[in-house]
Amino acid sequence: MSLSSFERYPLLFGPSPIHPLPRLSAHLGGAVEIWAKREDCNSGIAFGGNKVRKLEYLIPEALAQGADTLVSIGGVQSNHTRAVAGVAAHVGLKAVTMQESWVDWDDPIYDRVGNLQLSRILGSDIRTDESGFDIGIRDSWQQALESVRAAGGTPYAIPAGASDHPLGGLGFAGWALEVERQERVLGEFFDTIVMCSVTGSTQAGMIAGFALQDRPRRVLGIDGSATIPKTRDQIARIARATAASIGLERVLSDDEIQLIDGYNAGIYGIPDESTLEAIRTCARLEGMLTDPVYEGKSMAGLIGMISSCEIEPGSRVLYAHLGGQPALSAYSRVL
Ligand SMILES: Cc1ncc(COP(=O)(O)O)c(C=O)c1O
Repeated sequence: MSLSSFERYPLLFGPSPIHPLPRLSAHLGGAVEIWAKREDCNSGIAFGGNKVRKLEYLIPEALAQGADTLVSIGGVQSNHTRAVAGVAAHVGLKAVTMQESWVDWDDPIYDRVGNLQLSRILGSDIRTDESGFDIGIRDSWQQALESVRAAGGTPYAIPAGASDHPLGGLGFAGWALEVERQERVLGEFFDTIVMCSVTGSTQAGMIAGFALQDRPRRVLGIDGSATIPKTRDQIARIARATAASIGLERVLSDDEIQLIDGYNAGIYGIPDESTLEAIRTCARLEGMLTDPVYEGKSMAGLIGMISSCEIEPGSRVLYAHLGGQPALSAYSRVL
């Protein structure tokens, strides 16, 4: 089996752009060259982002099964459920999205703006549940699936972040192959990839895809939710399953799965001063916007790890910008 043996429903513009971040690189001393690959600009569907890339491999199965409704789950300001709502509309399916209370954020407009507003516009059947943050399989989601069946519909089940799903890692395995092709054109090699991890299949897919290339490259997942053991297990499980399904003929070792603690602000969905500082620094040096839940934390990790030389001088870093800016308006109290 290889990646090309899986059917892909095109939802992206094409390869996402890669460009240098020269002013951020100079600001951090100039010894590390930083570039960005922009999943936040990857699609015309509902502001794109990493979930749209993952869904390219799930949609063919949903259509083949005759599903009429995509059923998924996330927090109130979930980028993922907004992407599911957008992709459902694009391919002519319905969406039911279960929005759990993953974040205790008291901005009075938190549930009226940002991703939830977009999901409403996109026509999702939005349900809410009081349960807190958890990337696992949830009762509320099972109930949403059951309610679609009870109403005579055919649901297609997409877990949080499209991660804990047999096809969930394929999109970012493809991303790794795309990077290799873009490197050839650019005449560059990125030895370090920095990105944000929460439900795990973005990093897992990258690890599996890069493992096929067998070049000295590390994928540093900056943890965004402070549930390190659970996230690490999920990344490892998805990375190994994805690697096997795309034809890697060895088992991934534990040290290929690097989840970095220290930049998650101790909790999912809430920024700390270093997150906010990273958001402002990146915006004011590069005009590149990041959000307080995901990319602000991975940007803080990028800045912190270069400043501490954990990312060594001489490295060439590719920062994977995975999207997330639609949540910014829900955080007007701090930004
Ligand atoms: C904008 C953004 N960045 C990063 C992530 C993390 O990706 P993953 O859930 O695949 O670990 C997510 C989703 O959780 C996201 O919406």
